[in-house]
Amino acid sequence: MTTTTESAATVAPASDRDAFRDGAVDERSRARLAENGLDYRRVQIDGDGYAPWLQVVARGFQDGERSDEQIAATRERSRYRRLTGVFDPAAPMAEAPVATIASWLGELTVPGGAALPSAAISAVTVAPTHRRRGIARAMLEGELRAAHAAGIPMAMLTVSESTLYGRYGFAPAAASASWRIDTKRARWIGPRPEGRVDFIPRERLRELIPALHDRSRLGSAGEIDVPGGHWDNFAGTRPDAEKAGEKRALQYADAAGEVRGLALYSVRENHDDFTKATVTVAYLLAETDDAYAALWRFLLELDLVAEVRASELTVDEPLRWMIADQRAATVTVQDHQYVRILDVPAALEARRYGAGATIALQVSDPLGFAEGRFLLEIDGDGAARVTPIGAEAAPAGAVEADLGVEELSAVYLGGVPFATLAAAGRARATDIALAGRVFGWHTAPRLSIWY
Ligand SMILES: CC(C)(COP(=O)(O)OP(=O)(O)OC[C@H]1O[C@@H](n2cnc3c(N)ncnc32)[C@H](O)[C@@H]1OP(=O)(O)O)[C@@H](O)C(=O)NCCC(=O)NCCS
Repeated sequence: MTTTTESAATVAPASDRDAFRDGAVDERSRARLAENGLDYRRVQIDGDGYAPWLQVVARGFQDGERSDEQIAATRERSRYRRLTGVFDPAAPMAEAPVATIASWLGELTVPGGAALPSAAISAVTVAPTHRRRGIARAMLEGELRAAHAAGIPMAMLTVSESTLYGRYGFAPAAASASWRIDTKRARWIGPRPEGRVDFIPRERLRELIPALHDRSRLGSAGEIDVPGGHWDNFAGTRPDAEKAGEKRALQYADAAGEVRGLALYSVRENHDDFTKATVTVAYLLAETDDAYAALWRFLLELDLVAEVRASELTVDEPLRWMIADQRAATVTVQDHQYVRILDVPAALEARRYGAGATIALQVSDPLGFAEGRFLLEIDGDGAARVTPIGAEAAPAGAVEADLGVEELSAVYLGGVPFATLAAAGRARATDIALAGRVFGWHTAPRLSIWY
C-alpha cells in the first residue's frame, strides 16, 4: 500500500521519511512536561493507543466520535505520520492523551521549481481540561527541534486560527483565494482548447490524480507532495466516505488523448428556482493552460447553475482574465500555507530569486534555529550562495537587511512583498526596492489543499 506520493522529483527519500517518523520525541520538551507530571511520548499507529489518540484529535477539532470503520480507514491512510501525545497519568482516562500532534517529512515547492524537504505539522490539539499550561508550546517547540535535529530545513502547516503560530516563527507565505462566480454574468472569453472534457468514475480520478499532481506541483511555489489519503478524502474513495455519490469527476484529455487535467465538483439544487443551482469545486488540477481553460469553461457553462464556488486558489488566477465581467467573481483572500525556516543557508539556497544582488541578512529567531548574520550572493540567473558571516563586515555595495525569522519565512515563497513588511515596520533594508525585487517571484504561490 502506498501512503505517500513519491515521484522522480522527490528529495525526501523514503529512508529519511521513515527515520523522522520513527524518531524519538524531543528530550527538552519531554523533561519540561515531565516536571508538570505529564508524559510526552510517541503513539504507534498499530498499537492500542491509536484509537484514543484519534478520538482526542476529533474532539479537539469540535468533531464527533469516530466509528470503528472510520478509525480503521484513517489508520490505513496515516502510516506516513509521526504521532505524538501528551498523557496525564492522573486523569480518569489515562490511556487517552490530553494533547496531540502529528508530523511527517514532506516536500515544499519553492520559487524556481525545486522541492525542499519540509516537516509538515498537523493535528495540534490540547484538551480544554489542560489548556493554557504551555502544552502546545512544548509540543510545537519539541517537533521543531526534532525536525531541526533530523536536518530538515523547513517546517510548514495550515491553521485553524491565525493567531497561534507566529510565536514559533511560522508566517503565512502563500495566501489562498475563495471565489464565488455568478455564472450568468461571467461569460467565457478565454481560450476554447482542442481536446475533450469527459465524466469519469471517481475511482478513476483517484488513480490518475497522484501522478498528475506530482507532475504539476513543482510549477507552483507553496504546493506540497500530497499524502495519498488526502486524495481519498477528495475523491470520496475512503470506505467510510459520506455522500461520496454527490461528487462528479471530470477529466480533460488533450488532442493527443493525454489526460492533462482533472476536476471534482458537487451540485446543490435550488428548489425555489431550478435554474439556480450552486456548484462547489472540490479540486481542479490542470497540468497545462489548455486543461485549465477547458475545465473552467465547462464548469462556468453548466446549465441550471447560477453560482460556482471554489477555494484554495491563487490570489492571481488566470481565470479572472477568461471571463468578460470580472465583477461576476467575488474573491476573498485568507492566510493559508504557513512556513518556518529552520536552516537559513539550506532554505535560501534552494529557491531562485527575482534579481541578482548581494544582501547581508541579519535574522533574529527567538527559538535560535535561524538566528544569525548571513551573506546572500545571488547571481544573474537568480541562484544564491548563502554563507554565515557572523559580525564580519558585508562586502562593499551589499544591501543590509534586518528581519525576524517570521518575516523571512513570509517572503520566502515570493508572495509577500518585502516592501509591504518594511512599510508595516516588520523588516528593514538599506535598499527596499532591490530587496523586494530579489525576494519577489513572477507567479503567486499557492497551496491547493489543507493538511
Ligand atoms: C490552540 C491550542 C492548541 C492551544 O493550546 P494550549 O496548550 O492552551 O497553548 P499553550 O498554553 O501552550 O500556549 C501557547 C501560546 O499560545 C497562546 N495561545 C493559546 N491559545 C491561543 C488562542 N486560541 N489564540 C491566541 N493565542 C493563543 C498562549 O497565550 C501562549 O502564548 P505564549 O507562549 O506566547 O505566552 C488549544 O487551545 C486547542 O487545542 N484548540 C483547539 C484545536 C486547535 O485550534 N488547534 C490548532 C490547530 S491549527
